[in-house]
Amino acid sequence: MRSRICGTGSALPQLKVTNDDLSKRMDTSDEWIKSRTGIASRHLAVEETLTSLAAQAAKQALKEADVEPNELDLILSATLSADKLLPSLSCELQRELSAVNAAAFDINAACSGFLFALQTADAYIQCGRYRNILVVGGEILSRVMDWEDRSTCVLFGDGAGAAVVCADALHGILESVQGSDGARGDALCCENRKNNNPYVTNDVGLSYVSMNGQEVYKFAVRTVPEAIRTVVGRAGLSMEEIDLFVLHQANRRILESVSKRLGVPMEKFPTNLEHCGNISAGSVPILLDFVNRQGRIKKGDRIVLAGFGAGLSWGATVLTW
Ligand code: COA
Repeated sequence: MRSRICGTGSALPQLKVTNDDLSKRMDTSDEWIKSRTGIASRHLAVEETLTSLAAQAAKQALKEADVEPNELDLILSATLSADKLLPSLSCELQRELSAVNAAAFDINAACSGFLFALQTADAYIQCGRYRNILVVGGEILSRVMDWEDRSTCVLFGDGAGAAVVCADALHGILESVQGSDGARGDALCCENRKNNNPYVTNDVGLSYVSMNGQEVYKFAVRTVPEAIRTVVGRAGLSMEEIDLFVLHQANRRILESVSKRLGVPMEKFPTNLEHCGNISAGSVPILLDFVNRQGRIKKGDRIVLAGFGAGLSWGATVLTW
């Protein structure tokens, strides 16, 4: 049995914030941000919750897959910025969708989150336990950004994407790889709430995302091509046989470097970071939905999905559509 993506969906918050908008609030410029990252604007949540964005994306994906919410066996959401510490985003979504027969839990693997969730869904389907799984990736990263730190806050955005994954005799996931390097976790980090009980005397203030940009950049351009070569090779395919490379949208220069290292033209790497920024676990499913809706994917196409980021962590999957 294979795990086939039968439907996709995505949702972005209403508010669009351009680089020029940001430059009115902090010492930055459209030129600096665009030339180093390719990002021109991002959407930031004001009224929206992550649950509302994820539910919007999930409903579109269910509709395309022609799967009713009560036919879902599992809801698996990848996020680091859920609305609540508990219940999980997946349980909140279950309530929103009335997916009464689904188990629901979240996965936190930061920007690799959607890949890790998809691969977990694939394992459940391959072992025969479940047939219909809703996989979501989404973030309201603007919650955990330090809006005084121009080196991080300009890079990220908010949004959610979803995919309905169903057991299929023919098409679907061919090969996957995932990895983590916790020893290098400090390169991209955000502390949770600090210890807080009557015996703690230290400051219990909140912490925000901090990043060593160059460290993360070097990690990405080395690890991602390697992961992609591994899955494509294990699937018995050549790079030329892959129709589309849907990669985590962190930075245009990273994508260009991956394309060059793999010897694959940039035309096969669709992007939406120009108007979305980096949405961590949301970026791969949102981009996948964009290209799906643009009609850029045909049945039988071979697609590589890849994510990378905090952990450090990375994951790649090759599938037939
Ligand atoms: N606007 C203007 N100037 C800024 C700025 C901003 N938003 N953010 C930082 N700067 C300044 C810094 O203060 C520093 O100034 P200084 O040299 O006077 O100290 C300078 O720009 C740093 O520039 P540079 O060394 O050219 O940065 P860079 O080329 O390493 O680019 C990143 C920075 C973050 C764009 C780059 O490292 C990167 O893309 N890394 C990968 C990050 C990523 O994708 N993370 C998520 C992965 S999931």
